[in-house]
Amino acid sequence: MTSADLVVAGCRELLTGGGGLPKRGRALGDVGLVENGWVASSKGVIVYAGNEDGFMAGVVPEPGAATVDGRGLVALPGFVDAHTHLPFAGDRAREFGLRIRGWTYQQLAERGMGIQTTVKATRAASLDDLVALSLKRLDRMLLGGTTTVEAKSGYGLNLEDETKQLEALRDAAALHPVDVVPTFMGAHEVPPEYRDKREDYIGLLIETIIPEVKKRGLAEFFDIFSEPGVFSIEETRRLVEAAKAAGFRIKVHADEFVSQGGAELAAEVGAVSAEHLIAVSDEGIARLAASDTAAVLLPGVSFFLMMTKRAPARRLIDAGAVVALATDFNPGSSHLCSMPFVLQLGVFTLGMTVEEAINACTGNAAYAVRRHETVGSLEPGKKMDVLLCDVPDHVSLAYEAGRNPVRTVIKNGKVVVEDGRRVAAG
Ligand code: NIG
Ligand code: FE
Repeated sequence: MTSADLVVAGCRELLTGGGGLPKRGRALGDVGLVENGWVASSKGVIVYAGNEDGFMAGVVPEPGAATVDGRGLVALPGFVDAHTHLPFAGDRAREFGLRIRGWTYQQLAERGMGIQTTVKATRAASLDDLVALSLKRLDRMLLGGTTTVEAKSGYGLNLEDETKQLEALRDAAALHPVDVVPTFMGAHEVPPEYRDKREDYIGLLIETIIPEVKKRGLAEFFDIFSEPGVFSIEETRRLVEAAKAAGFRIKVHADEFVSQGGAELAAEVGAVSAEHLIAVSDEGIARLAASDTAAVLLPGVSFFLMMTKRAPARRLIDAGAVVALATDFNPGSSHLCSMPFVLQLGVFTLGMTVEEAINACTGNAAYAVRRHETVGSLEPGKKMDVLLCDVPDHVSLAYEAGRNPVRTVIKNGKVVVEDGRRVAAG
């Protein structure tokens, strides 16, 4: 018998997401559904997930153990948001107004707006400002069921302001239950002061900023915006090789608008993930499918930029690639941070089934940030990160479009959201 200090009892549907991660092809459609499901944990670690009989036969609640009533609710693993640009300052509401009137994202960028607008605001912000903004956003994410989030720098574009963004992530993470996976993205854009000497900025990244961020232990991943007009494929290769040599794991913003072989390169260099992929080539799909590089799709971008073109989720899944979904939360191309909404966009705009979208927001997303050993599914030994959703069945997670169905969030075995509200810390 195993003892437990927390029991989630009698869920109408429990989606364990078990059966091995990552999930490819047909396996992506298996959410590990258990009717009348029970989950139990001890000291924040799952000791049991399964049906009632198994629970009664194998688990003894400790005296004083807490019980959460799952009757009538759907339980699933906490969402992993595998791609966000969380610690930015300012907003781009004015530019959004221009886009509504017909300007494109690229036209704004060419006129010194877009990412550069946010670079100005982020450089002007203090560390404390960025911590406060990050904490507010982490709260909002948690209410939508995000229990692990990847977060990138990339609006500082110099040593001081990139490290300020990463320090803000570190400080916010220490004050908040959501787990934060930090990514250094100094190669998000060439800053204005290096516009006519981009080679110098690449040199600064390789010789100074990459080694310094590594030395200070501020980030686990290195990410780069590989796109014609931002960083070319040759520049991407050089920067990725330098970051790998420094000890970073690699992510690549690849083929967002135009394919320049970013997906192919990501697979070739053993990147953990290639992100966006709206314009991925047939060859890129084949290379990803044959690799361990996750395809992280960001349907909020096509939605938010009002594009008709979408990432070929169906073809990537059918080819056997590891497909995950994420928000890309940022002020320009995807100003949204709700994983329930992204799950719904996966179904409504990318042609995924509800089951595929659920796994893409949980287990495969955990794989895309290399946290699949500890989160992403409800199995003994993993963190007790559980969502309880007020829907009649898991299909309604998408069917009730536009709704946040998350009522209760358990993070590391603690109830942190109850009845849709943040439980006071303490
Ligand atoms: O993932 N593609 C590059 N970076 C972000 C957008 C950043 C911004 O517009 O501020 C993205 O889409
Ligand atoms: Fe992004």
